[in-house]
Amino acid sequence: MQPSAAQLAELFTRAQAAAAHAYAPYSRFRVGAALLFDDNVVFTGCNVENASYGLSSCAERNALFRAVAERGGRPRIAAIAVANLNHAPSPPCGACRQVLAEFVSEDAVVLFPGESGLALAAVAFHDLLPHGFRLKRT
Ligand code: THU
Repeated sequence: MQPSAAQLAELFTRAQAAAAHAYAPYSRFRVGAALLFDDNVVFTGCNVENASYGLSSCAERNALFRAVAERGGRPRIAAIAVANLNHAPSPPCGACRQVLAEFVSEDAVVLFPGESGLALAAVAFHDLLPHGFRLKRT
């Protein structure tokens, strides 16, 4: 599935809205993610931090885990949008890339605030995580 430009713009708007729900009292870096699945359903997530800092959970993984918990199976991601309320660059972190890789479709695209924090970068998921670890399913 190739999302239209309008779908991608809407997905980024959904990620921005999700960022407003972030629980980030420690870093104050508020992130939102929106995942578009290949049946046109969108799931969103935000980062949720903890006083035990290492237990904080990223927006992208929260969106994915929410989708799997509610849908079951192995939903396929067509597009991922990440936004933040800090006017900063925010590509998905390495841990999120690895987790998302399990569910992305071949040609999934990722939108995120690029270097300036303003311009939106759009890249193929597989360019963000070449040679990602995977196990052959039996
Ligand atoms: N964060 C995300 O939600 N997604 C990322 O891809 C990178 C970082 C969150 C984690 C933490 O709550 C805050 O941003 C600062 O690192």
